[in-house]
Order: sequence, then C-alpha cells, then structure tokens
Amino acid sequence: MSNLFQSIARPFIASQRPYQPGRPLEEVARQLGKADIAGIIKLASNENALGPSPKAQEAMKAAIPRMHLYPDGGSFYLRRAIAAKYGISPEMVMLGCGCNEHAVLLAHAFLAKGTNLVFSERSFVVYQLVAELYECTAKRVPMADGVTTDLDGILAAIDGNTRIVVVGNPNNPTGTMVSQEAVDAFVEKVPANVVTVFDEAYMELVEPEEQVDTVKHVLAGKKPVVVLRTFSKAYGLAGLRCGYAIAQPDGIDLLNKVRQPFNVNAMAQAACIAALDDQEHLAKTRAMLREGAAFLLDGIRKLGLAPQPTKTNFIFVPFKRAKELAAAMERHDVIIRPLAGFGLPEHVRIGIGTPAENRQCLAALAASLAELG
Ligand SMILES: Cc1ncc(COP(=O)(O)O)c(C=O)c1O
Repeated sequence: MSNLFQSIARPFIASQRPYQPGRPLEEVARQLGKADIAGIIKLASNENALGPSPKAQEAMKAAIPRMHLYPDGGSFYLRRAIAAKYGISPEMVMLGCGCNEHAVLLAHAFLAKGTNLVFSERSFVVYQLVAELYECTAKRVPMADGVTTDLDGILAAIDGNTRIVVVGNPNNPTGTMVSQEAVDAFVEKVPANVVTVFDEAYMELVEPEEQVDTVKHVLAGKKPVVVLRTFSKAYGLAGLRCGYAIAQPDGIDLLNKVRQPFNVNAMAQAACIAALDDQEHLAKTRAMLREGAAFLLDGIRKLGLAPQPTKTNFIFVPFKRAKELAAAMERHDVIIRPLAGFGLPEHVRIGIGTPAENRQCLAALAASLAELG
C-alpha cells in the first residue's frame, strides 16, 4: 500500500482498527463462486430473520415519491411517536443513524485524552473503538462469571477521570442480562459526574416480564443517564440505520449539537413510525426467538459444544478454532460470526433464524465440526 496519507494523519487515527461487521451475503456468494445469494443464510449480525415489519414496508412504499426532499432534520413525528410509547416528552428523544452513531456522538461530547470509559470486557466492540477514536482510555472490567456484566466491578473501576460507563443490557456477544434490581442499585451508586449509558439494542426481544426499565432513571432526573434503543433488531430494520437515545433534555441538547443535520433519512423516519406500532410483528419475532433458541441450544449441545443460554437473538459459543469453524460454516452456506474482532478468538456468535434457517445452521455445524475433526 502507498503511504501518501498515513504519515500525515493523527497517529492515533492511523493505528485504529476498523470495525469488522458480519460478512455480507453477497461477499460470501462471490467467494464461493455462486451467481447469487440463493441458499446462503446470514446468522452473523443479530438481524431479525422475520424481516421488516409489514407495516414498515407499507410505509416505505408510501414514502418513495417524497425521496427527492431532504428529511425532517428534527425527526419530529418519529420523536413524537417514541415519546408517546414511553410517556416522555419529545425533548428527551434524539434519533441517530443507528445506536452506533449515538456511541460516537456520546464520545464526541464527553471523551478526550486523559479521560476514561468503563465497560465490560466481553461486550460490544464499538465501545472500545470509540474510546480509541477519542484517545480516551478504555477500562474493560472482567465479567462476573465470564459472561455476565459485573456492575460492582464497573463501579469499582470508576475514578476521577471516568466520563462514561456503558452497560449493554442484554449484553452482546454473551446474550446475558442484569436484572432490574441490580440496575436500580447500580444507578444509585454511579457518581453524578459520570454519564451512565444503558445500551438496550436488544431489550424489546426480551420477554416483556423480564425487560428492565431504565427510562425511569432518566425521568427521575437525578443522574445523567442515557438509554439507547434501535430499530435494527426487534423491528427488523437494520438496513435503514435508525436508533434513538433517551435522556434529560440537556443531554439531548448536547447530542444534537454534535450530530449531522440530516443524520436520519426520510425512508427510515417513515418506516420506524409504522414499525413502532406493529406489536404483532414484535410478538411473532419473540415467539420465533423463543422456539429457535431452545432448538439451537439443544442441537448445539448435542454436537458436544457448550453454548451460553440467551435472553435475545444470538447464542455465544466457546470454540477454540473459532475462525476455522466460521470459514467451514461458510463453505456450507451459513455465515456466523467469529469473535476475534471482539477480542474473543475462541468464541463464535450464532444468530437465531427462522426454523428452516436454524435447521440449516445445525446441519452445517455438524458437517463443519466433522471436517475440523
Ligand atoms: C449492543 C449493541 N449496541 C448497539 C448496536 C448498534 O445498533 P445499530 O444498528 O442501531 O447501530 C449493536 C448492533 O449490533 C449492538 O449489538
């Protein structure tokens, strides 16, 4: 590679590693020498195998003739719909190009050299990447039993330079959760000069009686709490890139200052308003996941592996030769996620699909394990 730019760039940017997403279907089809993606399934990015909500699909079709216009930069109607869902004011909601954008905006607003960001060791790799992007120290806290967020450990890691703590709940990639009681006690103890971010990208996929309410801590207004949710997972709209943050208006105000003017496109705004209303799709999604999790966990165990029980739409599986396993699965038309990019070279993450996809996945897993010997 030429070196026209690297030596001019700020050194901490030049040494950044880019995020490695799940491999796209088209890329794997090209590698396998196939004309198209038919027959290949992707269980690598925790998407919703049921597809987009039908109501969202209708709304998108209806929005097509208006695509020559810029979107509403303030996402007025979508913010109003989200606010109504939670019984909060629209001033407490800010839309982003997926929650990934919120992670960067929060870092932009609060992190700098000399500060630190605290989060769990085995959690979403984007927290680490944004810390590096802002020359901020990433303090990674070991997990209680190797898979569950240790909230006391996070509290103990907070020091005078901590600006943000992030709790992924449910946690990606381990699929575990911390309870309402534990979260409530945690919020009480986090110092008021530290922003607490609850990344709840997967919360709507959890059975309703087990879901954790953190919006009440935002509403209480005693601590700087931010709740992140997304349309990528439960609502099946990952391709549109839309997520939201809930915080007290002064926090939302800060985030609005650091975002781009049209960060959420008009198609996404139309679809997400309709998707929020589609309780039927959400219920079907949860039912598919409940059955799929039981089927896959059982099948994976029968193949001699030790998968982690999950609260959401993916399964964390320890396997020493993770990269080789993922490559073998691709040769059998199933894309899963090796977790080296998350700093976990001996684990894979397998998304829960439709019943047919889950059967295809188990057959591919059996064949791949046999090949690896
Ligand atoms: C824990 C967690 N947070 C945030 C995101 C980002 O979601 P979005 O698609 O809204 O950017 C993901 C996506 O995989 C995730 O796993």
